[in-house]
Amino acid sequence: MDKEYARQERDSIPDDWTRPIVDPTAFAEEQRRLASVWTFLGMTSDAEKDGDWFRASIATRSVFVQRFGTELRGFENVCAHRFMPLRNADRGNGPIVCGFHHWTYDRQGCAVGIPHCRELYNALPQELGARLAPIELATCGRMIFGRFPHLRVSESLEDFLGSGFAILAAGSQARGRPHHLSIPFKANWRLGAQISLDDYHSPAVHPRTFGKEGYIRRQDISYHRFGLHSAYVYTTQPGGVDQIAQACRDGTYYPKHYTILQFVPNVLMAFFRTDFDHYHCAVLLYEPVRNDRTILHAWAYPAPFPGHRSWTRTLTDPVRSFIVARYVEMVLREDNLVCERIQGNAHQIGRPPLLGRLEERIGWFEESYRKLMAAREDG
Ligand SMILES: [Fe+2]
Repeated sequence: MDKEYARQERDSIPDDWTRPIVDPTAFAEEQRRLASVWTFLGMTSDAEKDGDWFRASIATRSVFVQRFGTELRGFENVCAHRFMPLRNADRGNGPIVCGFHHWTYDRQGCAVGIPHCRELYNALPQELGARLAPIELATCGRMIFGRFPHLRVSESLEDFLGSGFAILAAGSQARGRPHHLSIPFKANWRLGAQISLDDYHSPAVHPRTFGKEGYIRRQDISYHRFGLHSAYVYTTQPGGVDQIAQACRDGTYYPKHYTILQFVPNVLMAFFRTDFDHYHCAVLLYEPVRNDRTILHAWAYPAPFPGHRSWTRTLTDPVRSFIVARYVEMVLREDNLVCERIQGNAHQIGRPPLLGRLEERIGWFEESYRKLMAAREDG
């Protein structure tokens, strides 16, 4: 390994990089800072009809997204009265009514219906001024992102995602509702993000699938950086994320190579070949729960690009999707097991990892992570 290269990579990660992984207080502080970073919440297909809602999480805080006519609104999932969660299932349809005392909220998040309000509070509901904490929402194609408001954070979702915006917008146009799966595991979300950026472990960890053909040669693939994010394309042909983005905007893109885009902090989109020239798309989200608990969400669906449409796919896609779901789940469980084992060792880690050239994106991710943290140090 190039000595200079190895040194640079090490310098970008501090000795105490595992602090939020080991220490619940440091984790809480990390999550407080990440609350104002655009976070993937779910697909518009989860809230298609008027009144549809779904629950999600931003930096460990429970939130929900609800459709009101043509508009999506998001709120912290905490009643303004006595703090009971308003939504206690993954999804549903109907007005915002708290199950504790039947307080009812409108689309602005204001408590407009309060049983016996005048008698008990000596006021009308609107005079009481009780309201839900709103979250900011933005969509990219069919993907819904949210964040908690922050005085010094105003960057639009489009600016935050950069060139990746057009790719997510095109890549998220799943027909119908994507296959969704949630896998909880006992490790920190960042270890999950790191393994998703690791192209070195496949022969050891995925010998039956990804790693069957042996090690990837670094000279056969290309890595790209855009904004705080990164991409991997299994080709050495020139043209990176900008070129894919342009083709997505023109409506001419279809993947020809395994392609994966990782967005900080915790979401990625991958295009991978299933058979012949058929590609599938997967969206992965590492939802932090505790310093040592994460829920990995995966959405998978046939890649929604024009070049992939054919009448036979209508017949074969359900079979393909079934096989892909099994395959994805197996690979992810193998990854999660590694993360759980590292989590068990995390208190023994006191220096940066020795990242090689197939782990370059982990160094980039850690650098972006630290930039996010530093930008929200005092807010
Ligand atoms: Fe893996």
